[in-house]
Amino acid sequence: MAEIKVIGVVGSGQMGSGIAQLAAVSGIDVWLHDSDSLALTGALKSISNSIQRFVSKGLLSQAVGTDALGRIRCASNLEELRSADVIIEAIVESEVVKKKLFSDLDKIVKVSAILASNTSSISITRLASATSRPTQVIGMHFMNPPPIMKLVEIVRGADTSDETFSTIKALAERFGKTIICSQDYSGFIVNRILMPMINEAFFTLYTGVATKEDIDTGMKLGTNHPMGPLELADFIGLDVCLSIMKVLHAGLGDSKYAPCPLLVQYVDAGRLGRKRGIGVYNYRKIPQAVKL
Ligand code: NAI
Repeated sequence: MAEIKVIGVVGSGQMGSGIAQLAAVSGIDVWLHDSDSLALTGALKSISNSIQRFVSKGLLSQAVGTDALGRIRCASNLEELRSADVIIEAIVESEVVKKKLFSDLDKIVKVSAILASNTSSISITRLASATSRPTQVIGMHFMNPPPIMKLVEIVRGADTSDETFSTIKALAERFGKTIICSQDYSGFIVNRILMPMINEAFFTLYTGVATKEDIDTGMKLGTNHPMGPLELADFIGLDVCLSIMKVLHAGLGDSKYAPCPLLVQYVDAGRLGRKRGIGVYNYRKIPQAVKL
């Protein structure tokens, strides 16, 4: 099994930054790339804050935290990722955009490198088809937030080799994760089950059955979920939820997966959830009334 010394992470949003942090804390050097330089700056800040929270809770020593921060380097272009043994892609959930990236990476990284995708729902087999190394392409689906959530869902494409699978399984275990393994069908295991529930919560709101608060309270207290489905949708990102529903609808061919019009409308309006300060709920600070 190949030894992993350097990891490239592409996409430094909420998932990519968390994955970079996990790798660095595990003693692996990281190249972090994003097409948006502001996202990279924001990622470094959020990684530093997150590591500090782990240190202050006694879950990480200051020495490991400082070492981890020193292992993360920002790459302003993809070519800087050429020394990576594994690339983990965490860019926008679009098959067209991901395929273009996989095709570009295939020409840049070393022949032995594995290309892993953190996609929530897109076919690994189709991403692999954009490369000349389909045996070395695999799904490595972290949960949000990656440094905290215990699960990694590994998805084998049609041609993923046993060696690639073993290397990525060992890497997930080095990160302290429990793995589950899915075949390459739309939504895999977790989102195949989770997203229709979130979509149904939107339909419940859309058709006026209940308020957003009652829908979330119902699922938290009624089924022991730590977050209600609408709160969770805001946390995941409504754009990500919509993309996944579209993949489920197209890939599984059943109208029960059609995205709720209210979810579509929120995304059209730029109400993407916590990351934009507004989604189903409003997270923007309401200015205090001026005291005269
Ligand atoms: P995000 O919107 O927070 O971050 C995506 C980042 O990718 C942005 O910083 C953007 O500038 C960058 N980007 C877009 N196109 C790029 C390109 N061609 N090259 C380089 N950078 C590019 O999104 P998030 O939530 O981190 O999701 C990323 C991936 O992870 C998606 O595939 C999503 O389905 C998956 N995922 C998301 C989860 C969630 O809860 N948000 C959970 C598990 C997986």
